[in-house]
Amino acid sequence: MEFSIKTGNPEKLSKDCIIVGVFESRKLSAAAAVLDSASDGYLTTILNRGDLDGKLASSLLLHNVPNTASDRVLLVGLGKEKEFHERQYRQAVQAAIKALSGTGAKNVASYLADLPVKKQDAAWKVAQHVEVAAASAYRFEQMKGKSNKEENAEAAPHIAKLALYLLQHDELKKAETAIKQGQALASGVNLAKDLGNLPGNICTPTYLAEQAQALAKDFDLQVEVLERADLEKLGMGSFLGVAQGSVQPPKFIILQHHKGKKSQKPIVLVGKGITFDSGGISIKPGAEMDEMKYDMCGAASVLGTFKAIAELNLPLNVIGVIPTCENMPDGNAIRPGDVLTSMSGQTIEILNTDAEGRLILCDALTYSERFEPELVIDIATLTGACVIALGSHASGLYSNKDSLAKELLHAGEHAVDRAWHMPLWDDYQEQLHSNFADIANIGGRAAGSITAACFLSRFAKKFDWAHLDVAGTAWKSGKEKGSTGRPVPLLTQFLIQRAEKSD
Ligand code: BES
Ligand code: MN
Ligand code: ZN
Repeated sequence: MEFSIKTGNPEKLSKDCIIVGVFESRKLSAAAAVLDSASDGYLTTILNRGDLDGKLASSLLLHNVPNTASDRVLLVGLGKEKEFHERQYRQAVQAAIKALSGTGAKNVASYLADLPVKKQDAAWKVAQHVEVAAASAYRFEQMKGKSNKEENAEAAPHIAKLALYLLQHDELKKAETAIKQGQALASGVNLAKDLGNLPGNICTPTYLAEQAQALAKDFDLQVEVLERADLEKLGMGSFLGVAQGSVQPPKFIILQHHKGKKSQKPIVLVGKGITFDSGGISIKPGAEMDEMKYDMCGAASVLGTFKAIAELNLPLNVIGVIPTCENMPDGNAIRPGDVLTSMSGQTIEILNTDAEGRLILCDALTYSERFEPELVIDIATLTGACVIALGSHASGLYSNKDSLAKELLHAGEHAVDRAWHMPLWDDYQEQLHSNFADIANIGGRAAGSITAACFLSRFAKKFDWAHLDVAGTAWKSGKEKGSTGRPVPLLTQFLIQRAEKSD
């Protein structure tokens, strides 16, 4: 989908479709009112017949509206005007895109970004419109046979061009920047979704490394991929311990975006890249085990965020660090009771081989020390316990620095990709006690997401650090099973804010 931003009235546009909003009960939005008067009250007449009341996310497609140059007008219900907030705005955009899928409308103009949303400016509305429209149009069909690909079916054409219209000029400049940001974000989210949705037999550690190399080539980034022998030299006994049960060779990816001042310390993003998590010898139950192909969504979010910030040429120094391997049961796999020596020197007693994410991340955190980072954020589908605590609406956020946590929370709010601040109190640390090593890799059933974060905190003492547990947010289960691309919006927004601050 191609996006653009324009100003002007709707009646003269010659498009396949014009999207305008209608509030409950039958109250026309500004753009709808313009169309209504141009068509001598045609919209009012239709609404008065009772075909659309304006309920949120309802819609009505009209053809050949008098005195308008476009083929169609799509009326989208916005709900009660007083209750039209961020969520409702996003739902209205989503409903509009859905209503047009399967119609012949390819070249479309939307006036939804012109609607007032409390506390939000045109820039926010435009960026969100782009993001939601791109997400509604997203399909993952790479793995389907020819006859099952929707894109080949003539019955389902897609919107090719979506022009966002504002009635007034005054916010156009900001909206132009926003459309670029929305577009870059959408391509980052799409990359993260594609990588997440690919099956484990295709999206292997080697495949992820190749994707990072391709991204580096496209956007002039630096990339380095460390192999098993390199990792042995570095002493990454923890990461290598997880990797040793798989025939897939582990990879350690380092991606660098250097577009800030030389003197500026880098922000490091560390992503968990378990391309399939069987649990290892502490094997998982069979039900829904397929979803453990998503255990590399942290890594995918780092690559997606890099794509977004590279497209924007964001003036910042950002380094992506991705430890990636499989967690498999095998004659050579680590066993419960084994003790591993991490790169930091701390020894770890493995009490459950399924708590593998923290084992690969801890070495990546230690490795990150060499960059003398401004801050480090790791992103991981780390614990089922986080899903129990927060469900699928918020990512779990932990940090050893409150101001960093606040900044990330705020970025998540703005991007509508929310996180929730969880405690990292020392009280929880004792659950990680081991009789045989410096630390155990699990802390019992209570507060499982917190003790996982506590484990990581032991390897993040030398820098400001935050951890996002995205186990509940990175993908959806059930009928709509699929990757969400989260938390690419949160991370990208955070970096955009940082770039604005630094110049
Ligand atoms: N990748 C899983 C976490 C996960 C589980 C994410 C279910 C989404 C849904 C992680 O490696 C894991 O297995 N964690 C264990 C930790 C436990 C053994 C302490 C878990 O959450 O069950
Ligand atoms: Mn696991
Ligand atoms: Zn895992």
